[in-house]
Amino acid sequence: MRLVLLGPPGAGKGTLAALLKKSLKVRHISTGDILREEMKNNSALGQEAKKYIDNGELVPDEVVTKLIESKLTANDRVDGGYMLDGFPRTKKQAEALDRILKKIHRPLDYALYLESTLPVIIQRLTGRRVCRGCGALFHVKNRPPRREGICDECGGILYQRADDNAETIKTRMEVYLKNTQPIIAYYEAQGKLKNVDADKDSEELQAILMKTFDEGHKLNQP
Ligand code: AP5
Repeated sequence: MRLVLLGPPGAGKGTLAALLKKSLKVRHISTGDILREEMKNNSALGQEAKKYIDNGELVPDEVVTKLIESKLTANDRVDGGYMLDGFPRTKKQAEALDRILKKIHRPLDYALYLESTLPVIIQRLTGRRVCRGCGALFHVKNRPPRREGICDECGGILYQRADDNAETIKTRMEVYLKNTQPIIAYYEAQGKLKNVDADKDSEELQAILMKTFDEGHKLNQP
């Protein structure tokens, strides 16, 4: 399966990706996770990205496109399928992605558009906690860890992302509406768009999507 996950900040792209990755056994590539890892390592790319991420702005198209191209074109990296989370985020990125996918003969099956409402988004982002060790996602109310502040998966320390504060969330939403929302139409025109009600429970969403993929697969069989 070859997927792109679209949707506003906090719609649950990372949470759904973690579930789908296990059932679909595809590579999960999250530009946000890669950039945060670079920031943690204080690399040149991390230092460059931090200037944008901490303010809720987008990292320049050329930088993220190069990053994704290197992930998608590395040997055998995506032969078993892929799930892109957080890319593309602009029309320019969507067009660049089509060029890369054409080159590697791995066209997209679906662009999943996770639709959510503003109050849900704010509640999810302000309560999110992330594991410093393995990146697992938690929420103080919706998905609390068994031990406060400690990751259930690896025992790592949970932290709150620097961009999950009210002011930066507002900027991220504005940036999303201006730059990313328009690419929904881009995928609709390609007949690849699948709308998903992201306010639902994530396990329920996973089950619905797995059924959709299975039915789509049957339809395409000779
Ligand atoms: P990125 O990390 O991609 O951030 P985002 O798109 O803002 O998305 P989030 O990670 O905030 O939310 P999510 O939808 O994954 O929600 P999650 O599953 O965590 O990017 C960060 C920054 O990097 C950008 O602002 C930009 O600067 C830069 N960047 C990245 N890609 C770029 C690109 N292509 N171009 C340019 N710049 C780029 O869920 C949120 C919370 O809700 C969690 O606590 C979770 O437990 C809870 N939750 C999730 N789903 C449910 C559910 N169904 N029910 C109840 N609770 C739920």
